[in-house]
Amino acid sequence: MLLAGLLGPALLPATAGDRHEGVASCAGGTCHGATRPLGDSGIRQDEYFIWQQRDPHSQASATLGSERSRRIGVRLGIQPQTAAQCLACHGDAAAPGQRGERWLASDGIGCETCHGGSGRWLAEHTQPGMALADKVALGMTPTWQPQARAALCQSCHQGDAEHPITHAMMAAGHPPLLFELDTFVALQPPHHDRDADYQQRKGAQDPARNWALGQALAADRLLHSLEDGRIGAGLFPELVLFDCDACHHPLNAERWQPGRNAGTAPGTPPLADAPFYWLGLWLEVAAPELAPRWQQGLAALQASTDAGRAALPAAARALRQQLRAQLLPRIEQQSLQPAQLKNLLRRLADLGSSVRANDFLIAEQAAMASQVLSDALAQQGQAGSEERRAAIDALFLSVRRREQFQPAAYHAALGQLQRSLR
Ligand code: HEC
Ligand code: HEC
Ligand code: HEC
Ligand code: HEC
Repeated sequence: MLLAGLLGPALLPATAGDRHEGVASCAGGTCHGATRPLGDSGIRQDEYFIWQQRDPHSQASATLGSERSRRIGVRLGIQPQTAAQCLACHGDAAAPGQRGERWLASDGIGCETCHGGSGRWLAEHTQPGMALADKVALGMTPTWQPQARAALCQSCHQGDAEHPITHAMMAAGHPPLLFELDTFVALQPPHHDRDADYQQRKGAQDPARNWALGQALAADRLLHSLEDGRIGAGLFPELVLFDCDACHHPLNAERWQPGRNAGTAPGTPPLADAPFYWLGLWLEVAAPELAPRWQQGLAALQASTDAGRAALPAAARALRQQLRAQLLPRIEQQSLQPAQLKNLLRRLADLGSSVRANDFLIAEQAAMASQVLSDALAQQGQAGSEERRAAIDALFLSVRRREQFQPAAYHAALGQLQRSLR
């Protein structure tokens, strides 16, 4: 569906070329296979143990043998455990000629799926003091850089040309995909400690910037997928690119609202546009002079969903150019101050009175954003009150299950968050 050339080859997961030597090559007892942190080398060294015991990525290919996968396979007419369309995301993508002797399909998403094929760096990367740039030159993926990390995770958690996810898979029973960079890094049982030593080796992380970068790169990925020839050839475009709730809700003639999807007739399905929404908020707070043009381009994109097959790709291409020329460089440079972070959180807490008030797509991202932005404030010396923490917990609770989403509980949590920011 999407991607290819998104960020230039240096930032893409290193699936091409290098040999994948297999998880067992990393798991030696004096390497990454300790059963507890050893603490004398800077890194933990129990990475394999954590991955194998607690990280769902190690079970990703086993999942393809589950009862749920079997049912998905029956509906799609495929065998999930051997189907390339499932293994693209539920396994290690090394081509047959790139698999080392210890490579095992049953290892699922292994060390090298994320860190890059180790054919050229396995022996070298243990040299003390080896520069990160030298590791990257030998094929290691720079997972410590937020842009590269987002590209890696989003390739599977949002989908792209090499990892296509379709409405057909979802209609057959695949769960909808959801992603936010820092939240998911925290949810993946971490096998690295962001301590002082880590920051010295790999740089400090700015959670608010990571959040904005993650949204910008998700928007870029969505726009790329809307460009020429990628939106599907059927009677309907690829529906996974649109807001699920646009179609999957009970009939209610009073539900439709003007302003949700600028310039379109009532009933036109809106795109899965959550990243655009968050970028808009970021711009209002951090770079208001760029906001009007962005909103114009966005309105043109929305209007184009109603204007024939050629209009959407053209509007997507124009908006993507603007995103790359203006927004991304700005986000990369700018670090938000506490007052701006608070302002952003206040606007988020105002969602309950906006046209997107009852929007699940926005609500689940709102919960994750509130946590990340609150962490960013804490990192700048403004730790959250008990009330702020309770409000964020309540936000997460309100979006825990799509089927049981109760806008009233969500709005109450937003109100509590707003009060906690006074
Ligand atoms: C090769 C594809 C792929 C890549 C790359 C990838 N993931 Fe995943 N991820 C998956 C799959 C597939 C699952 C579900 C595994 C299962 O349950 O079988 C998953 C599950 C997860 C989960 C658990 C989700 C839940 O609902 O419990 C988290 C958290 C996660 N991934 C975070 C990340 C992060 C962070 C990155 C980037 C550093 C990343 N993933 C990169 C494919 C990928
Ligand atoms: C674009 C990447 C991608 C593709 C392609 C993909 N999956 Fe997934 N799959 C994921 C991710 C990511 C998750 C975890 C979702 C989450 O929890 O956030 C997942 C979760 C699942 C789950 C739920 C796991 C659980 O523990 O409940 C099943 C079952 C599944 N996938 C089966 C399949 C099958 C079968 C195929 C092929 C038809 C497939 N997947 C194709 C990325 C993908
Ligand atoms: C789903 C993706 C993913 C998988 C699978 C994965 N890692 Fe990581 N790993 C990361 C991310 C993200 C980081 C944090 C960013 C960084 O420091 O590079 C990381 C960090 C590390 C670090 C650096 C810690 C430090 O203090 O500098 C080591 C070592 C490591 N991983 C080893 C492994 C090993 C060994 C495996 C397999 C057993 C593995 N990883 C599997 C994503 C992954
Ligand atoms: C433009 C409208 C539209 C959008 C957007 C859309 N779907 Fe669908 N979906 C349909 C139609 C039509 C069907 C087939 C209904 C039937 O068979 O009766 C369907 C079927 C399904 C089914 C099978 C169960 C059922 O209700 O028929 C699931 C599950 C599903 N979609 C999930 C999703 C998810 C997840 C998304 C968002 C990523 C999504 N859909 C986006 C129109 C849409």
